Amino acid sequence: MASGGGIQIPSRLPLLLAHEGVLLPGSTIRFSVDSPRNMQLVSQRLLKGTSLKSTIIGVIPNTRDPEQDTEELPTLHTIGTAGIAVQVVGSNWPKPHYTLLITGLCRFRVSGLLKERPFVLAEVEQLDNLEQYTTSTTEGTTADDGELGELSQKFHQAAVQLLGMLDMSVPAVAKFRRLLDSLPREMLPDVVASMIRTSNKEKLQVLDAVSLEERFRRTLPMLTRQIEGLKLLKKSRKMTPGNEKRVLSMRNSKGGPFPGRQFSLDRDEDSDDDGDDTASLEKKVHGANMPEAALKVSLKELKRLKKMPQSMPEYALTRNYLDLMVELPWSRSTKDCLDIRAARVLLDNDHYAMEKLKRRVLEYLAVRQLKTSLKGPILCFVGPPGVGKTSVGRSIAKTLGREFHRIALGGVCDQSDIRGHRRTYVGSMPGRIINGLKTVGVNNPVFLLDEVDKLGKSLQGDPAAALLEVLDPEQNHSFTDHYLNVAFDLSQVLFIATANTTATIPPALLDRMEVLQVPGYTQEEKVEIAHRHLIPNQLEQHGLTPQQLHIPQESTQDIICRYTREAGVRSLERKIGAICRAVAVKVAEGHRLPETDASSLETSPQQEDKAAPPEMPIVIDQMALKDILGPPLFELEVSSKDDSALNQPATTERSAGWSTFLTFIVKPCGAGRVCEQQRRVRCTAAHHEVET
Ligand SMILES: Nc1ncnc2c1ncn2[C@@H]1O[C@H](COP(=O)(O)OP(=O)(O)O)[C@@H](O)[C@H]1O
Ligand SMILES: [Mg+2]
Repeated sequence: MASGGGIQIPSRLPLLLAHEGVLLPGSTIRFSVDSPRNMQLVSQRLLKGTSLKSTIIGVIPNTRDPEQDTEELPTLHTIGTAGIAVQVVGSNWPKPHYTLLITGLCRFRVSGLLKERPFVLAEVEQLDNLEQYTTSTTEGTTADDGELGELSQKFHQAAVQLLGMLDMSVPAVAKFRRLLDSLPREMLPDVVASMIRTSNKEKLQVLDAVSLEERFRRTLPMLTRQIEGLKLLKKSRKMTPGNEKRVLSMRNSKGGPFPGRQFSLDRDEDSDDDGDDTASLEKKVHGANMPEAALKVSLKELKRLKKMPQSMPEYALTRNYLDLMVELPWSRSTKDCLDIRAARVLLDNDHYAMEKLKRRVLEYLAVRQLKTSLKGPILCFVGPPGVGKTSVGRSIAKTLGREFHRIALGGVCDQSDIRGHRRTYVGSMPGRIINGLKTVGVNNPVFLLDEVDKLGKSLQGDPAAALLEVLDPEQNHSFTDHYLNVAFDLSQVLFIATANTTATIPPALLDRMEVLQVPGYTQEEKVEIAHRHLIPNQLEQHGLTPQQLHIPQESTQDIICRYTREAGVRSLERKIGAICRAVAVKVAEGHRLPETDASSLETSPQQEDKAAPPEMPIVIDQMALKDILGPPLFELEVSSKDDSALNQPATTERSAGWSTFLTFIVKPCGAGRVCEQQRRVRCTAAHHEVET
């Protein structure tokens, strides 16, 4: 059919090269798009266009866009479907891609390529007549005479017959019925072919059938096959009315006749899937290396599952349970790579100071090395916030070469959080211990029970009591989660607990742990920690290098005593983070050195040397500190001397020494605030005296 009257598609269409799925006129399909040309098509055409016309694109089936933009365009299938993009969803995860929902309009033939980049644009010839859907349907085709009329008559009858075999209460079937009544008959082959179960190859055949007669001829056997299949199924299974619904398995993976879902009318394959599914599950159950008791339970559940119809709610529950059972690391473990000397180095590398704690940890590890089945005490690090309790736990896992999993216990007040819910509950889940094991996938991880002192208590039982069993080396080889309902051996798990205080840890729990006090740090230790760990870490996290930012020791000291009051180093870390952010802005702005102005700086030869290279580290001195972090939060008792130093102009000896490093010069302003003065940056506040 040539494009006669009716609606015209544009004669130039951008082409989407689709690999999977064949879009037929009248159906709607979801396409996932991630190759360069297709991405360009979406971002430059679909997302930029404002007219309705710009949402019309051509979909070329059976063609994969090359992964590289530079690669040659493959030969294109010559017939495609013009479609209208009804929805575009973009996502960056796991890699940038778009999902398009496209409704097919009509066939076209590619008559010539106009360009290949950034996306393919082609000259096209419309093949189908795009009538208004509302034109009266039945008369139009009955007038058709000869073979075509007969074919379309037969086709319509077959479609009605198929409809009669389906359950009208399923929405997709109701929609099918509506379409059958309302669509012009020449649309039926396309629509039916996309609704019944057909392979992509068959759909492609339908697409290639340009003449209507040919199209009817190709689709009719597919339709009859579907009907015969259903008949057979009915006969062999003696279906009950309830089962009939399942014949229509809703598949949302591929999109459907209209935005929403596609239904397939064939169940045979599904039931095969199903059979395969339980078979593979059974294989997994046997392969999971479970202890005997667990295996017995699993096999029993599997037997039940096989007998259950899929529609039963319990099917999903049992399935989930079995999935968890096979996923749990019953006998999977990592090999400890423990070398005490290396461990000492690693611990020292990760954490400064904490001598006592490190010594005890090493003793503990040494004993473990000598006696692998150590039923040792559970270590509990107790100390103020920010002294590195949690991060030492992580380090220990690293030294042992084990998986690490942190269980935050703060605010947990329900014992089923630890032990899971019984499976009889709606929405029952395993507890955190079992969940953690599933996550790490081995049975000998390091579990950090963080903040055990913040465990709550409520009507739902006492989570601390549940932890007792977990932490008791005598009992935890047969820890039973309520959900799992079989014992899991936790004896290989290394538990470490942390707390801020022992006062609120329930005595029974405390009794099972060996408390290691982690005291706060002295000022000197904090300075060391900052320079060895915090600053390098923060620099890295903010994408900065030591060549771009330098924080001298005096400034660190200043941050510690004027901006933070804490036993640990957490807020020190935050302040350093704030400085990094401020500097990152400067660096990202394409920060360059202001030209050295001889009148404002006492220039020495050495100074000139230092000012010469264009990229100098931004040095954080007291004034920069004040500018970034604001006025000090705490005053030193012996502050008078320091204060006067602070108020000196930038040209005094000390600050001049700093300002040689400084790429922007800071100077206190009249109002007592410090502002960053740079000749390039114009200061708008009236009270700032500008130094030139
Ligand atoms: N001795 C230390 N050496 C290096 N970094 C430390 C040290 N103590 C604490 N930190 C750092 O301080 C931050 C806070 O530590 P964290 O373990 O979360 O504290 P806690 O759990 O004790 O409240 C972490 O980034 C950690 O790396
Ligand atoms: Mg912590």
